[in-house]
Amino acid sequence: MLEIEGSVAVITGGGGGIGLEIAKYWVRHGGRVVIADIAQPLLDQAEAQLKELGGEVATVVCDVTKEEDNARLADVAIELFGRINLVAPFAGIIKDGLMVSTSKETGRVNRKMSLEQFRAVIDINLTGVFLTVRECAERMINHNCKGLICLVSSTGSLGTAGQINYSSSKAAMSVFPKVITAEFLRRGLSGQIRCVAVAPGYVGTAMVRRMDQRALEKILADVPIGRLIDPEEVASLVGELYRNEALAGDVFFIHGGLRLGSRG
Ligand SMILES: NC(=O)c1ccc[n+]([C@@H]2O[C@H](COP(=O)([O-])OP(=O)(O)OC[C@H]3O[C@@H](n4cnc5c(N)ncnc54)[C@H](O)[C@@H]3O)[C@@H](O)[C@H]2O)c1
Repeated sequence: MLEIEGSVAVITGGGGGIGLEIAKYWVRHGGRVVIADIAQPLLDQAEAQLKELGGEVATVVCDVTKEEDNARLADVAIELFGRINLVAPFAGIIKDGLMVSTSKETGRVNRKMSLEQFRAVIDINLTGVFLTVRECAERMINHNCKGLICLVSSTGSLGTAGQINYSSSKAAMSVFPKVITAEFLRRGLSGQIRCVAVAPGYVGTAMVRRMDQRALEKILADVPIGRLIDPEEVASLVGELYRNEALAGDVFFIHGGLRLGSRG
């Protein structure tokens, strides 16, 4: 079992939502954190909250779609804290819409998902994660760090109408742990650096609060626990995945029993 105490977590999307909750969990358990997000004001607020908990915190403004920002993020972690033990690339966005929408009057297509709408989600949720993980993994290997890469997929990885961009990015996250674990096995690294993903259902963060509230109420009617997942519950799962070194290469769902459209 690994101890969180004294370990170093690099968390993108750490300025809010689930990322910030993981950072809080880490410092509460004696870990140190490097949080990255797109804007300094977000990071300043997050840092203040983490320091109140007594945490050792570094912040890095980082657009995860930029190669050089990810390299700097990984470098800061090594320069300030000497190692990286958890990589949690939780920066992510949604930009929902149907691929093609039709007019109720004419039955003809009157709207399409734009290339920008598709690409923006892929750029952040897929390419951005690839870059964060690649840069952090390089430092972890070169500095002989033990730990976990914990990605975030989603129940959307199974395919959600109105989310062809998001579902595609999250389906990719489901395959990353298998590819990375297999590659590390080839190089004799898979005992040192494990890779998993968590796949939450609907978590009570800004991302979900921005959703159409009527659609959300309908979704919640099919969640057996009858409520949103608490971000702290996702953070606790990440903590357990980190501690338990038997867990590798897989995707761990956390969705309150969500039946994905069926009442069973
Ligand atoms: N909330 C949910 O129900 C839910 C469910 C399943 C998976 N997830 C995933 O969990 C992750 C976190 O989601 P959340 O609910 O905390 O969302 P959130 O919107 O609360 O937080 C996401 C963070 O990512 C940051 N971010 C966005 N673009 C960025 C960029 N280019 N570079 C750096 N940072 C950027 C945002 O500023 C924000 O702080 C996402 O990958 C999301 O897809 C969320």
